Amino acid sequence: MISVSTIQKINDEARVEDIVGEFVTLKKRGANLQGLCPFHNEKTPSFNVSPAKNIYKCFGCGKAGGPLNFLMDYQQMSYPDALRYVAKKYGIEIEETERTDEEKQRELEQHNLTESILIANTAAQKFFTDYMLHNENGKIGLAYFKERGFLTSTIEKFQLGFAPDAGDAFTKHALQNGYQLDILKKAGLTSPKENSTYDFFRNRVMFPIHNLTGKVVAFGGRIMGKDEKAPKYVNTPESEVYIKSKVLYGLFFSKNDIRKKDECLLVEGYTDVISLHQNGIENVVASSGTALTQEQIRLVKRITSNITLIYDGDAAGIKAALRGTDLILEEGMNVRIVVLPAPEDPDSYVRKVGAEDFQKYVQQNKRDLISFKTSMLAEEAKQDPIQKAKLIREIIESIAKIPDQIQRSVYIKQSSQLFDMHEQILITEVNKLRRKRVKEAEQAINPEQQLVQAANEAQEQKALADIHGEQLNEASGNLPLLEREVVRVLMEFGSWQLLVEETMTTVTAFVLAELEGLEIQTPRLQKTYGYIKSEFAQGNVHDEKHFLQHDDIEVASLAIEILAQPYSLSENWWNKYQVVVPEKRNIFARDIQSVLNHYKRHITTEEIKKVNAAIKKASEEGNEEELMNLLKDHRLLTEQKKEISKNSGTVI
Ligand code: UTP
Ligand code: MN
Repeated sequence: MISVSTIQKINDEARVEDIVGEFVTLKKRGANLQGLCPFHNEKTPSFNVSPAKNIYKCFGCGKAGGPLNFLMDYQQMSYPDALRYVAKKYGIEIEETERTDEEKQRELEQHNLTESILIANTAAQKFFTDYMLHNENGKIGLAYFKERGFLTSTIEKFQLGFAPDAGDAFTKHALQNGYQLDILKKAGLTSPKENSTYDFFRNRVMFPIHNLTGKVVAFGGRIMGKDEKAPKYVNTPESEVYIKSKVLYGLFFSKNDIRKKDECLLVEGYTDVISLHQNGIENVVASSGTALTQEQIRLVKRITSNITLIYDGDAAGIKAALRGTDLILEEGMNVRIVVLPAPEDPDSYVRKVGAEDFQKYVQQNKRDLISFKTSMLAEEAKQDPIQKAKLIREIIESIAKIPDQIQRSVYIKQSSQLFDMHEQILITEVNKLRRKRVKEAEQAINPEQQLVQAANEAQEQKALADIHGEQLNEASGNLPLLEREVVRVLMEFGSWQLLVEETMTTVTAFVLAELEGLEIQTPRLQKTYGYIKSEFAQGNVHDEKHFLQHDDIEVASLAIEILAQPYSLSENWWNKYQVVVPEKRNIFARDIQSVLNHYKRHITTEEIKKVNAAIKKASEEGNEEELMNLLKDHRLLTEQKKEISKNSGTVI
């Protein structure tokens, strides 16, 4: 323990402007110093440091304190760590009060659970490292790391180790040294089974996972060699001190370099972080193979707002690269993405080409999210306007999440060029989404509203999904959805050719003929439907691209929205039946027919309802002539409905 007199000395010596000045650029303002607050996002400085009072205070977010508070708050140091940090900076010698074994024991008991677990973890780390370096049976662990090219200094820095193969070597050792079984189990070091003293990690090389202050909170244990059955890595179960989503591997070792370079590289694996460090690239952390969380992003955000994701060149790696990227945008950070040439991962690639070329590659190949997403899907999208619409939708959604308006407009401009679309269309769509989010946020505050909203959405979702499944029937009562489907068919397949009764015709011609005399009732769809009709009357039939890039924003927006829906009956069917291209058309013909049938059936049912009401009225009034006419109508409509039902799926 640090003695009271040392603590006194440290408190006397620590200067707020020195400590804060290490992390924040400060400018003189009269008697005080001023800078951009490191605790919140700001463009004009409201963070004040008063050397006279030896305190800092932010007038924007309210954070305030003395030099030690700053270290604890900003650097997430514990109190003792902050004391040691300051002592080191000012060359103050730390006087530790000696502890007897008895005191140690008492201290151990007094510590709360969290600290006990941390202490047990430290003991485990020491044991694993020691075992690897000095025990005959542990040398294979060392050989493994050496084989992978890790230097002794690297092994020491990251406190790597080896967990013995023998069932309970560590647990036994810990128990002998006064650690309680209960704590070992809670730390995830010993099997959780009751009364068991079996080690959790066996015969694995060990990677301790440190928190921001350098304490071991968990371990990752890697199997040596390949075993198809056992998992490659086993990780400490989540506990009091280890919440996976809040930890980034390597951050403790990397935070200074991240600050210095004002950029954080994010990789997937433990070994990637270690290898890059060994090669002098120290601004790197790992997400440990899971999708990035908001908490993890915020850890980085405290240090830099530039984050570069480096991913393996395989398809899975690319997919992984996109997970969590919107969260980074939402935090107002700049996200860039680099994909390494397949099949390399950062570890293998830096070993292959060396630090310099690795960095060159990253610099030359990093792209912002928008152009990355675009280029990734561009080829596919070029061939397929539906893919393109989906991609546009996705990118609009990403852009809408960026808090900064200027940054949003830069991305919008860029995308409009990439997609050859009017900027205004994208602006409109982005704004629409942002307004929707505001509304959702407002509703989130009102729980009752929230329930109603959820119920509505669930219903709508289900209807949307069903309309493309075999249960098209369930959506039959929903006119807007059915009409939307009609318009989708016209936009998506309008220019395709169909063979109807031995004559080739376009889908547009077919659909419009089928719907002769019917008017679309959903206001939002009327304009586009009317446009398609009038164009057809002039002999023009268009494909999706035409609608997506339409000069009329309303038409283009509707196209983006409808064509970008993450479903498509045809797709479902194609996947389900593995239909290859020639048959694709038959399937899609059935798709169209069933959409039309459902639509017409709906309209007819509504008509029948109206006639029924009129019949009731006429018979009440005793209006015989009217009644006769109505009954005739009724018969016609019922026949028509039967006909439609019979036709389902039989045309073409
Ligand atoms: P990788 O499979 O890419 O492993 O998983 P790696 O980091 O390249 O490891 P080496 O080079 O083969 O030794 C990336 C990360 O995903 C987590 C680990 O954190 C790993 O570093 N992971 C992977 C697990 O937690 N469990 C697993 O079974 C596999
Ligand atoms: Mn690897």
